[in-house]
Amino acid sequence: MEKREHWKSKFGFILAATGGAIGLGNIWRFPYITGKNGGAAFVLIYIGCCIIVGIPLILAELSLGRRSQRDAVGTFKVVKPGTRWFWIGGMGVATGYLILSYYSVVAGWTIGYFFESLLGTFRKMGSPQAVASYFDTFSASPLKAIGFHGFFIALCMIIVIRGIQGGIERACKLLMPTLLGILLICIIRSITLEGSLAGLSFFIKPDFSKLSTQAIFEALGQSFFTLSLGMGAVITYGSYLTKKDNLASSGVMITFLDTLIAILAGFAIFPAIFAFGLPPDQGPGLVFRSLTNVFNAMPGGVVFAPLFFFLLIIAAVTSGISLLEVITAYFVDERGWSRRKTVLTMGTAAFLLGIPAALSFGRLQGISILGKTPFSFVESLTANYMLPLGGLMISVFVAYIWGRRKAIDEVKVGNPAFITGRIWVFLLRYICPFIVAQILLFGVLSEFTSPRVTSFANTLRSYLSIIDIVIAAGVIIGGAIYIISIKRAKRKEE
Ligand code: TRP
Repeated sequence: MEKREHWKSKFGFILAATGGAIGLGNIWRFPYITGKNGGAAFVLIYIGCCIIVGIPLILAELSLGRRSQRDAVGTFKVVKPGTRWFWIGGMGVATGYLILSYYSVVAGWTIGYFFESLLGTFRKMGSPQAVASYFDTFSASPLKAIGFHGFFIALCMIIVIRGIQGGIERACKLLMPTLLGILLICIIRSITLEGSLAGLSFFIKPDFSKLSTQAIFEALGQSFFTLSLGMGAVITYGSYLTKKDNLASSGVMITFLDTLIAILAGFAIFPAIFAFGLPPDQGPGLVFRSLTNVFNAMPGGVVFAPLFFFLLIIAAVTSGISLLEVITAYFVDERGWSRRKTVLTMGTAAFLLGIPAALSFGRLQGISILGKTPFSFVESLTANYMLPLGGLMISVFVAYIWGRRKAIDEVKVGNPAFITGRIWVFLLRYICPFIVAQILLFGVLSEFTSPRVTSFANTLRSYLSIIDIVIAAGVIIGGAIYIISIKRAKRKEE
């Protein structure tokens, strides 16, 4: 076997990992899901999920990956040989396929919008409404939808074939900082538009009466999606880390940067949406409809529009490659395939799988799977069900099967002062599985409309809320212990 590649530097890893986390999930999905679920209250739940469930799980995946130095499936075989836990990884690889298949459809739209904005298509249109509704024409075109989808997958394939340092790490180092800069410029224009205030208050003033069970369910799903959790993507990236790296600080850093970009995207999009009198709950086209208008309304928009869509393509690529890398690492590590052969076959497979999703906004618009288009069906299945389920199993695996001692020992390598270990394991053992299982359960129940299911859910809710209070108390006490232990450790150092 070839010697396993590693990240060249810590900075390179952080950028690649945040590059994998930051993507369409932040700039396309977060705004549209937030818009659909009523704004600020949803955002708070989402941030809560990222902190309480996201950080412990990122750390769990990173430590598994670095410990095993293997892919998502192999990791479980190394850590618990002779058991069937590797199925968690198997489900992860399958989830990766499904996500990549529609992810690249959306990424394809951004490529299309890049070219359209270069050609000045939006500038020529009269009203903001016309600009907004161009999205329907565009996404309904089978040639464009499938063509750009294929183009995107090909782009990812080229990078992943080149491997870790030369491909993934180098691309991310340059591009992520530029994205941040452009986003800041968009925010300034968006919040200085006339009538932007309503959008700001939609995004930052919580109204908890709007918060449904379904919204909480989607907030959890969004936190998993945006942090790339629950399918072994972080395990895979962690497996290219060395023993020198500090897992805990990396995990917190990734979560922080990822959330920051999502919030910034919200500030760029919602003020503009309201300023142009567009509704916030218009689904997957939201970003495309709103930002094109922002660019039309700003000086220098001719330049910024293509630039922005170009960077969005980049953000999508850095995430797309992380999805493809999960699949690739599996075939390379477990099946002994060459990197080249894997990327070529699996990339093509994901392309074919994505075709129904690509056609969901045109030809297949009338097709319904459980009341959803093929696109939204796969999107909801993966983000709301498969990722949280995977995350649930990973937290149970690390906390109970691998065992807390071994998990903490792994995190302590490269970070000897890892006093957070106890809290981390506490969250993984008692809090994360419970929160995730509960939200999943109610999410599933809320998909049913029959009165019997609803009344059952309500009864269950009233019992569980007692446990929730205990959990909340646990988190507060846990936090207090954490702060005290940090103070003590500091005193010891002195
Ligand atoms: N997190 C990425 C985004 O926000 C998408 C992504 C990349 C992903 N790899 C993943 C999502 C693995 C889930 C699992 O755009």
